[in-house]
Amino acid sequence: MKRDYISTQDYTKQELLDIIRLSLIIKKNIKAGYALNVLYHKTLGMIFEQASTRTRVSFETAMTQLGGHAQYLAPGQIQLGKHESMKDTSIVLSRLVDVLMARVIEHKTVQELAQYSTVPVLNGMSDWNHPTQEMGDIITIFEHMPEGKKVEDLKVVFVGDCTQVCASLGMMITKMGGHFVHYGPKDFQLRGDYLDILEANCKESGGTYLVTDDETEALTGADFVYTDVWYGLYESELPKDERMKIFYPKYQVNREMINKCAPNVKFMHCLPATRGEEVTDEIMDDPEVSICFDEAENRLTAMRGLLVYLMGQKDLTIEICKKNLGL
Ligand code: CP
Repeated sequence: MKRDYISTQDYTKQELLDIIRLSLIIKKNIKAGYALNVLYHKTLGMIFEQASTRTRVSFETAMTQLGGHAQYLAPGQIQLGKHESMKDTSIVLSRLVDVLMARVIEHKTVQELAQYSTVPVLNGMSDWNHPTQEMGDIITIFEHMPEGKKVEDLKVVFVGDCTQVCASLGMMITKMGGHFVHYGPKDFQLRGDYLDILEANCKESGGTYLVTDDETEALTGADFVYTDVWYGLYESELPKDERMKIFYPKYQVNREMINKCAPNVKFMHCLPATRGEEVTDEIMDDPEVSICFDEAENRLTAMRGLLVYLMGQKDLTIEICKKNLGL
């Protein structure tokens, strides 16, 4: 039976760890210069309702590196939305490609795509979550694990607005058994269905979550500090100057904030960033603190692992990688 990747909530902790492990061994293999044509002649259809740099390029590069091909299907270039419903588009594309991804405005669109598709569907971001970002982020966190700690020991703090990236990070960290904090202003904090999910994850994993606007409570002992843009995500949001008054200066990630965290804290950002607003140049460009460009690279690491996993090539790929690497 086909498996989709619409939300990490559809996966167990062990399955997510398997994908992380797979992604990392493929990365090692490709960095060592070995070809890995495990998706030879396979085609990915990429539907984008919104602009993208990292998601689009990493999916397309991943398919090329794995011996396959990707098609960019943008609004205005395919019939979707004008002459054809999502249901029919989904049925048709399932007969033409081997795997689908979609970046959508509304979450229900990618759910519908998955419902009618007979090939695996990956969510390349919706208004509800960003699970491929989640996978790249947790891989980056594993690569930058503080000495002597494991994922269950980590305090990961998202600073600012409760974006879908914030929600996704919370889901992944609590699923892994870590300690997640959303540090944001009262009317912009995670709530409702998201908190129910974090609660359920923590019950199962032993992790914790906290939503607060208290700086000391949020930042003390933070191993990772993550932020996202304050403006420009939704049409319905407040004008920029009003949003700036809410978030600036308290929620800007700058040297003063970083100094309140654990000594070796790392800075993360899904990108694109608005430098000088949610983060200063000084932090974003600090090689001792910032790992946001490693995160961007690990979007590709994650896409390769996810595509191989969903296409049922996990065991074969690990076997090839181990042989190539002499493991
Ligand atoms: N972080 C992220 O999803 O970037 P893009 O919008 O460029 O894909």
